[in-house]
Amino acid sequence: MAHAIKGLMRTHHCGELKASDIGSKVTLCGWVNKYRNLGSLHFIDLRDKYGMTQLGFVNFENVEGNHLDELRKCSLESVVLATGIVVARPTEAQNANMDTGAIEVQVTSLSLLSKSDIDTIPFLPFGSVEATEDLRLKYRYLDLRTKKLQDILLLRSRTMNTIRTLLTDEDFVEVETPILYKSTPEGARDYIVPSRVHPGQVYALPQSPQTLKQLLMIGGTDKYFQICRCFRDEDLRADRQPEFSQVDMEVSFATQEYMKNLVEKMLKKVFSLSSDFTLPMMTYADAMNIYGCDKPDVRFGLKQMIVTNIFKGSDFATFSTVAEAGGLIKAIFVPESVGQFTRKDTDAFPIVVKPHGGKGVAFYKLSKGERSTGISKFITDEIESQLFSLSEEKGDGTWLFFADNVHSVAHASADALRRNLAHKCNLIGSGKAFLWVYDFPLLEWSEEAARFTACHHPFTMPAREKLDIFMNSDHQDPNGPLGKLTAEAYDVVCNGYEIGGGSIRIYDQSVQDRMFKVLGFTPEETKNQFGFFIEALKYGVPPHGGLAFGLDRLIMILTGTDSIRDVIAFPKTSSASDLMSHAPSRPSAAQLKELHFDWTKS
Ligand code: AMO
Repeated sequence: MAHAIKGLMRTHHCGELKASDIGSKVTLCGWVNKYRNLGSLHFIDLRDKYGMTQLGFVNFENVEGNHLDELRKCSLESVVLATGIVVARPTEAQNANMDTGAIEVQVTSLSLLSKSDIDTIPFLPFGSVEATEDLRLKYRYLDLRTKKLQDILLLRSRTMNTIRTLLTDEDFVEVETPILYKSTPEGARDYIVPSRVHPGQVYALPQSPQTLKQLLMIGGTDKYFQICRCFRDEDLRADRQPEFSQVDMEVSFATQEYMKNLVEKMLKKVFSLSSDFTLPMMTYADAMNIYGCDKPDVRFGLKQMIVTNIFKGSDFATFSTVAEAGGLIKAIFVPESVGQFTRKDTDAFPIVVKPHGGKGVAFYKLSKGERSTGISKFITDEIESQLFSLSEEKGDGTWLFFADNVHSVAHASADALRRNLAHKCNLIGSGKAFLWVYDFPLLEWSEEAARFTACHHPFTMPAREKLDIFMNSDHQDPNGPLGKLTAEAYDVVCNGYEIGGGSIRIYDQSVQDRMFKVLGFTPEETKNQFGFFIEALKYGVPPHGGLAFGLDRLIMILTGTDSIRDVIAFPKTSSASDLMSHAPSRPSAAQLKELHFDWTKS
């Protein structure tokens, strides 16, 4: 019996009765999934999250109450309680595909616990017509009845348990940190909550518990973890939600090696990997050069080559201009055996790179050693032999080129077409390819803000051997040495998703002070926003580091879904609204008054 604790209305759930239960008197509860009326015989398929059991109704005059009347009220999706005897199904009615397919429950008593209004129900969760995503989100509780979503909730809960057990066994302590707090910058906008008691003041919801977990280290906690909520007001994508969960960790006296070993241990457990699994490592620079992005999907090839120098002085002015202006030209060679492209295909390539700023994709084909199409007339034997000297693949195929004065545009375009071609040419296997990407840049220049921003967050340690440069170089020079520094920051990547990220932290007050200055904070702003944190760095700080996994993304990979909404019980849309509860919504006049709101009407 699954239910060790007495007191449930049912004796069994709908997925467990078998031939060995024949003769038992049982009580089941669940939703009416299907109703069949065969005249003197009536059947209900009764469903709960565990499965389905067939209820049979015969000899109505022999059972207590008027069940036929009761039965007629049981519209689909009504909740009923049925008591009866488990009987064998006639051989021809047995269903080997159903866990309970050998039996049915011959009902002796039936109660309708909650009638469903079949005339207004927006969709049947087990119906043949698929509802639109908006409708499913609006009636999320109906969609949650599906096996797919119930299985995901179960897997998510079990994964959280696995992680909790593993970390607790490693002496980590789970600590809850505040949600009503102060700005914790992770590169997004804050969600803010106005204070009633302090007119004109706000709390910020944490973008992550970054400063809090560091303060826990300063507080002597040694090894912290938390499965926590984070809130970020940023542009949403298929793998982003405005509020999401992290498995957040921080460890005193940790090196990057410790964090990697810990991550390996967790991945082995969560993804049931072999005991000798080690996380392949790749520097950020290699990831960008070979794959054009910092979270490459390495389940397939289509590696990129940097061919800028090959086109210096070439007759193809578009490329030679880029090469001579300090731009970047990347190439991908697609062997004929991997993919061949029609005119229609190559015409569509620019559409793929356009959203990334790409102006086009140059190409030419090699068939039986002969060059044709695209930019073939500009490709000399000399250029071609240099191209092939860089390529792991040889022979006939298509060369694709991505050139731009702005390096990030050439990288992003090559990355976008690589991923597009992988789908098109069916190159993506079903496995999981993990990566530890490290040596990230410390800072990047924001043209918009005309200052450096932190690539990870402002608490990340610059590469130690270059600390001197960090402390002393011009922080207003976009092309100066600061822009070239790397950080002790790392990401965990799987199948093209960034599933985790972390760093070794600054633990010296003067370095942290300098970081805020580099990021353009005035001493006043630093004091107001982070004064408490900077002060804590004065009173004995263990060197520390950590990492946070995106729990939702972990579950996406585990379940193989490509929408983050599938793995969250009550997700928001891509415009950060909840279609079910209509959040966000206008505050009442009384709330506005209490919160001392004085907003400009839109
Ligand atoms: P970071 O910002 O890299 O690091 O976040 C860690 C991981 O959280 C996940 N993630 C998200 N998941 C869903 N929706 C989002 N909007 C979203 N944003 C991030 C990603 C990411 O890898 N405090 C640091 C960690 C640290 O340094 O220890 C932090 O939050 O999987």
